[in-house]
Amino acid sequence: MSFDYKVADLGLAEAGRHQIRLAEHEMPGLMSLREEFGAAQPLKGARIAGSLHMTVQTAVLIETLTALGAEVRWASCNIYSTQDEAAAAAVVGPNGTVDDPQGVPVFAWKGETLPEYWDCTEQILTWPGGQGANMILDDGGDATMLVHNGRAWEAAGQVPPTDESDSEEVGVFKELVRKTLAADPTKWTKVSEEIKGVTEETTTGVHRLYELAKTGDLLFPAINVNDSVTKSKFDNKYGCRHSVIDGLNRATDVLIAGKVAVVCGYGDVGKGCAEALRGQGARVIVTEIDPICALQAAMEGYQVARLEDVLDYADIYITTTGNFNIITAESMQKMKNKAIVANIGHFDNEIDIAGLAKVAGIVKTEIKPQVHEWTFSGGGSIIVLSEGRLFNLGNATGHPSFVMSNSFANQTIAQIELFTKTDDYDKQVYVLPKHLDEKVARLHLAAIGVELTELTKQQAEYIGVDVAGPYKPEHYRY
Ligand code: NAI
Repeated sequence: MSFDYKVADLGLAEAGRHQIRLAEHEMPGLMSLREEFGAAQPLKGARIAGSLHMTVQTAVLIETLTALGAEVRWASCNIYSTQDEAAAAAVVGPNGTVDDPQGVPVFAWKGETLPEYWDCTEQILTWPGGQGANMILDDGGDATMLVHNGRAWEAAGQVPPTDESDSEEVGVFKELVRKTLAADPTKWTKVSEEIKGVTEETTTGVHRLYELAKTGDLLFPAINVNDSVTKSKFDNKYGCRHSVIDGLNRATDVLIAGKVAVVCGYGDVGKGCAEALRGQGARVIVTEIDPICALQAAMEGYQVARLEDVLDYADIYITTTGNFNIITAESMQKMKNKAIVANIGHFDNEIDIAGLAKVAGIVKTEIKPQVHEWTFSGGGSIIVLSEGRLFNLGNATGHPSFVMSNSFANQTIAQIELFTKTDDYDKQVYVLPKHLDEKVARLHLAAIGVELTELTKQQAEYIGVDVAGPYKPEHYRY
């Protein structure tokens, strides 16, 4: 078999395959979906463009989608998050060899440049033989944004104008769109017309989808996977509870115990991060703009303060807000010497790295890849991880398999849902029904020895539910 792909080194495939084999053992949700749907092939005919961190766990997702009949093309949704051995193994596939890859086209490597990143994203939407993708599986919404913005510029009969004030990120994105439109002026209309739907992984991507739906600009139906309870209340919280420490340790190996750690944002991700840092013995301070989340943090025993009031004594800063300009260049100049600054939110604009680079007299020293010391003219310095990009994937390997099995079981079910029942969905954003959310949880119980209590018929009637579930009303918050 021959197909196009671009990864760092196919020679890493064997190492990747060993890790995938172990991950499969820890991903009972995905493995049981393979068993349940393998014979029926519900994704036969699906051509999925996947834009999601190309990790070992994602390789197990990819091979689940193909086991259910899908074809896929894959890119990472962040320039630093690819595990090169996982990318190589996904290309080679379980039955291929380095000389005869039998897997799937992957366009991802750790340390892409921004132009390379957008080229890779375009690659997953550009299928050989003239056919386009007919499904998107997105994380953060970049693939969806490319289709929507490309199409909008096309419809306006324009190419994106260059603008001096654009950030590097925006400038590179516009350049890619200009290039694609020069090659084919109707490319994005054609691509968008084939797409039946998108399933979106994360809070930030979901936010973008609701904005598009609100203005009537959403071009196809979307399933918000993030807000399945078995995604956001697990991956965002327990996943980050694990990988925030992993990222800090691999990047710095600094002792967390006894330090003052600031967690900006106390949503699902912030809750996991704060708990993990406290578990390591740090004194945790939370910043919040939402009174409910601020009160929750206070009830958990965290100090809730404003960032500007803690700059002279905090040691570690983690942004988790999904908002921008949380830590400014001005704030970073006021921090304690050797403070560690890292972002775990989806995009890199939570910390103003561009502003930091412009501080007069500042010197940037690479300690190792994705770990930089920024020294101010006065002599003090701060340590910035992954250039402000999500550091649990940049400095470590993201969330562990078991929690990703929950997220990706939701993704797989959402793909089946949108692909097989396209006509049931309008151009809106949907969440999976509660019985499917409960199903995802159920698939993970046996592996960790959970013995579930069964309702009696009388008890079920008393609380007004079915013995088989769903067990909670839609408005229940967990
Ligand atoms: P969320 O909406 O539950 O929490 C964000 C919190 O930040 C909210 O409580 C909000 O009030 C607060 N916030 C907003 N602006 C703020 C400000 N200026 N100062 C202080 N707090 C502020 O969102 P969630 O699910 O916790 O996700 C946060 C980000 O993390 C998103 O970008 C999401 O896509 C990303 N994410 C990253 C993961 C990773 O592995 N790195 C995993 C899951 C989500």
